[in-house]
Amino acid sequence: MPPVESPNTKIRPSSSSINDKGHLVIGGLDTVDLAEQFGTPLWVMDETTITAAVAAYKEGLSAYPDSLVLYAGKAFLCLSMCHLLRRHGIGLDVVSGGELHTACQASFPAENIYLHGNNKSEGEIRQALIAGNVKIVVDSESELSLVASIARQLGRRARILLRLIPGVEPDTHQHIVTGHEESKFGLALTDLFPVVRKIISLDSAVELIGLHSHIGSQSHAMEPYWQMIDILADCFVDLQASFGLRLSQIDVGGGLGIAYNDNDRPTPIYEWAKGIAEHVTSSFQQRCLPLPKLLVEPGRSIAGTAGVTLYRAGHKKRLPSGLTYLFLDGGMADNPRPITYDARYTAAIANRMNAPAPLTPLSLAGRYCESGDIIIKEAFLSAESGDLIAVFGTGAYNLSMASNYNRTGRPACILLSAGKAEIIVERETVDDLLRQDRVPERLLR
Ligand SMILES: Cc1ncc(COP(=O)(O)O)c(C=O)c1O
Repeated sequence: MPPVESPNTKIRPSSSSINDKGHLVIGGLDTVDLAEQFGTPLWVMDETTITAAVAAYKEGLSAYPDSLVLYAGKAFLCLSMCHLLRRHGIGLDVVSGGELHTACQASFPAENIYLHGNNKSEGEIRQALIAGNVKIVVDSESELSLVASIARQLGRRARILLRLIPGVEPDTHQHIVTGHEESKFGLALTDLFPVVRKIISLDSAVELIGLHSHIGSQSHAMEPYWQMIDILADCFVDLQASFGLRLSQIDVGGGLGIAYNDNDRPTPIYEWAKGIAEHVTSSFQQRCLPLPKLLVEPGRSIAGTAGVTLYRAGHKKRLPSGLTYLFLDGGMADNPRPITYDARYTAAIANRMNAPAPLTPLSLAGRYCESGDIIIKEAFLSAESGDLIAVFGTGAYNLSMASNYNRTGRPACILLSAGKAEIIVERETVDDLLRQDRVPERLLR
């Protein structure tokens, strides 16, 4: 078998190249033409990369008897993404009524949807139970009571997993670790038994089918996953020994990183998935437990590398200190990651890909009214006003975290496939923003 392509190890989308004009090409299309046709800023998603990432996960898990990839919708979600993933036959992790509604509108099979979140509303739980066999990942004891009471009202049975805090930390930024002991997500291990007692005392409204942990995001190492899997396997043993419970699912979360910069060395998707499957197998076999259904929840590593943001460079300004700013026509509103947790990116001049790199860097700054709105602090690009700037690795946590700061509309998003570019999210206009505004009559006088 040829080596499985794992797009998360590369900075650029799988289908990118440079044409004879020196322009960046993605999915067979010249990005200079795309910017002309659709305007900037523009979110570009490469379907080939998404498909390759999904295939790498599936291939990595293929030796495990029963598994399902749940794409973490929080990374990037819209109707077309749901349709695309549905066609690939994978599942979905959603964290809000909005994400769940989007999935249902795209005819996503309910039994492959898992509802997460640390503060699900009554409405969201109801929505999940009405949608069908959506699994609910319960985050706290009080949420368990709410799920049970809503299930009873509806005359349905809620199939739940419990999210546990394994006390394991991955090698990533503090804002995106979730498995440490003081995490706001999940139940402490010491609360597992009391909560399970409560589930058993409830009538058949709630059925506990599995355990879940997610240790964090943009992780490069495997060791924290081994620890987390062993901790969950111990919980399976304890629950069987103490309550006779035989849980059928283990959900190890997502979190595999992508290469944003040359120095990033994430584990390739295929190896991560294969490693997870092998470790779950050995961990459960060592404990003489049957293998549960294995769920993994990648978000960033499926959508991240597929995305490129195209910006038009505006004014250039050199300060007496020597610092040079090149301003982009977007910034923190379409990509809040640099200002939120100092995320680092790689950029290129899409219309002059072969331009030699200068010795001194410039700062690619956004157009928004915050000093911290800098997309790349030090970009070694000989870019000028009017150039088209491509920022790579923006497919995850950009569109989904975007805002209307400074009352600007969010960019359009296009999907590239087989030499075709199709809009999957329309550009917001000022009229779209005005549409939500209301003026009390008294202010009009
Ligand atoms: C429960 C859960 N699953 C999956 C993910 C996806 O993580 P990533 O995009 O890093 O793969 C997250 C991200 O925060 C999460 O909280």
